[in-house]
Formats: sequence, structure tokens, C-alpha cells
Amino acid sequence: MYEGVDRDVLEAAVALATRAPSLFNVQPWQWQAGANSLHLLLDRSRGLTVTDPAFRELTISCGAALHHAVVALHALGRQVRVHLWPDPAAPDRLAAIDVVGSADPSQAELALAGAAGRRRTDRRQYAPDAVPGRILDDLVLAGEEVGAKVMVAEGDDRYALARAFAKAAALHGAREDYRAELAAWTGLSEGMAAGVSAAAAPRPGAQYGDIVLRDFGRVAIAHEETGSAQNAGCILMVSTSADDTVAHLIAGEAISAVLCTAELEGLAGSPLSEAFEIEQTRNAIRHEVLADAGYPQLALRIGWPTTARGPSPTGRRQVHELLHDLLDDHAD
Ligand SMILES: Cc1cc2nc3c(=O)[nH]c(=O)nc-3n(C[C@H](O)[C@H](O)[C@H](O)COP(=O)(O)O)c2cc1C
Repeated sequence: MYEGVDRDVLEAAVALATRAPSLFNVQPWQWQAGANSLHLLLDRSRGLTVTDPAFRELTISCGAALHHAVVALHALGRQVRVHLWPDPAAPDRLAAIDVVGSADPSQAELALAGAAGRRRTDRRQYAPDAVPGRILDDLVLAGEEVGAKVMVAEGDDRYALARAFAKAAALHGAREDYRAELAAWTGLSEGMAAGVSAAAAPRPGAQYGDIVLRDFGRVAIAHEETGSAQNAGCILMVSTSADDTVAHLIAGEAISAVLCTAELEGLAGSPLSEAFEIEQTRNAIRHEVLADAGYPQLALRIGWPTTARGPSPTGRRQVHELLHDLLDDHAD
């Protein structure tokens, strides 16, 4: 067994993992540190019972945190082996990262870790300029390398997605319980450790080109717009071949990989999940875009930012609240 993972290395990995995107920034994760391993657990106490009753998106969020932790460990010179959902008898124990060796980090690994730390969800309008095909190919590859399918939605596929987002926004808008759940996590001040700050949210009812954004409600100070209202940017859709816990973790790893790669290229990005949260619209996407083969998990809006000033940052919980010692019955 490889010996010698200092606790501060594991703490640094968890610190970067806290920067991962999560639905409404709920950060539904806990970590446990073993002698040579990090274990990721789903924190069900942070569940969103109306928006995400099956914990699908919370598991996707944990997959993104898992990918961030692995990126951090690579940059810290550690080689790792990842086990997804290692023990179905302990369903909330989502993943184990075993540290199996050391190696000097490559420039690419260091750059990716830097991008993971800088990345923010950018819900603003983007510039009208197209994203070159070479970069889109890299984004697709980044997501596919972790086992998901990533497509750039164009033509009829994009039309079907746009229709599903508009329908989902209307269905959600009519639900008092959904709006109450969203409001509890939105419009918070920038100093809060979780939730979406008012300044990071779009104007209520915003639509960029063909895409209707999630309505975060009447936030006090919506972000400033300087981009093109006519064009939402590129829409990438992440799907998986199954629809279980492992598939949701893979989808989360993929969105992290795509968003961090986009950040490296200087692109802005924002997850869009509303159309995937309602059975009717998710089924429509599955049928119309995937011809019932595979499971759509989430979309990403990608485009060029119009200003060097990044979007408003969101808060995070502290490492000491999230990282605990591994319990004996799961000791490595
Ligand atoms: C599974 C998932 C679904 C998300 N859905 C949306 C969405 O529909 N609309 C949106 O604006 N942001 C969405 N986000 C982005 C989160 O709100 C964002 O990651 C969180 O507020 C933390 O902010 P940050 O990404 O800037 O660090 C989603 C993120 C994840 C992981």
C-alpha cells in the first residue's frame, strides 16, 4: 500500500472540491479522510425535496466535487484510483479516491487545477462571437473522457431543448412549493456560505435568444448585462447510458471537466438543469434529442464573456465542516 498522504494534502483537495458547482449552491457533500484515501458522502440533509426529489442532481453535484478533488490531487503530485459507489449497502457513500503513488504534475494538470479554482457560473449574456469547432471538440472530449456523452445541440436538437426549457420554466413558475424552495437558497448576500447570491442571478424571467433561463425570482440586484440578448451561446448536453447513482456521478464529473476546460480557454459557462428536473420535459428531451437511447442529465451554456470582470462569486462551506476522519468500518 502507498504510504504517506499528509493530512494537509487531503485538506487541499477538499478545499478545491468545495469550489465545485452544485444545484442552488447547496454543496451536498461530506468527506472522510483515511490513511491513503478520501471518501465522498452525499449529505442528504441538504436535499431539495421539490426540485430534486430523487437526489439525482445532488449526486451530479457530488460528481463535480469528486472531479475537482481528483484534479487537485493530480496537481499536488498524487496518482489516484477512483471507485464510484464502492458499496451499494452504504448508498450515500458515493466514491472513494485511493492515493496509489506520486508523480510530478504536468503543466496541463496544474493549469486545470487553476481553472477549477477560478471557474464561476456565469449567468450573464455572452458575446455574439461563435466558439470555434476546435474548442467545442475539446469540451466534448473532456466530458467523454470521464465516461459521459456530450453533444453540441444544434438544429432540431437545439430547438427541442429550447422548447423544453420554456415549458419547464412555465411549469415551475406555477408551483408555489418550487418557488418557495428556490427562494430559500437565492438572493442571499455574497458573504453567505451557501446559496446563490442576488448579484449572481439574472433578471427575473430572462431569455437569451432561444433559451429561457431559470427564474431566480425577484432578487434585489440582478447582475449587470453587457452581452448579446439575441444569442444564448452554445448549448452542450450531457447524457449517460444508464440513470443510476454511478451514471449521475459520471455526469457530474463530466460537467466539471467541461466547465474547467472552458475556463482554461477563457470561455464562460453556466449549467442549465431546469428542463431535466420535470419528468415531462426530461422525457421529451430523451425522446426528441436522444431517440430514447441514453438518459439526458443536464445542459451547459458556453460562450465568450464580454468583460474581464468575472461573475459575482458564491460562498462556500469551510473544509473543517466537511472533512472528518474515516469511520473504522470503512477503514482503508
Ligand atoms: C446539477 C447542477 C444544476 C445546476 N442548475 C443550474 C441552473 O439550472 N441554472 C443556473 O443558473 N445554475 C445552475 N447551476 C449552477 C449552480 O447554481 C452553481 O454552481 C452554484 O450556485 C455555485 O456557484 P458557482 O458555480 O459560481 O461556484 C447548477 C449546478 C449544478 C451542479
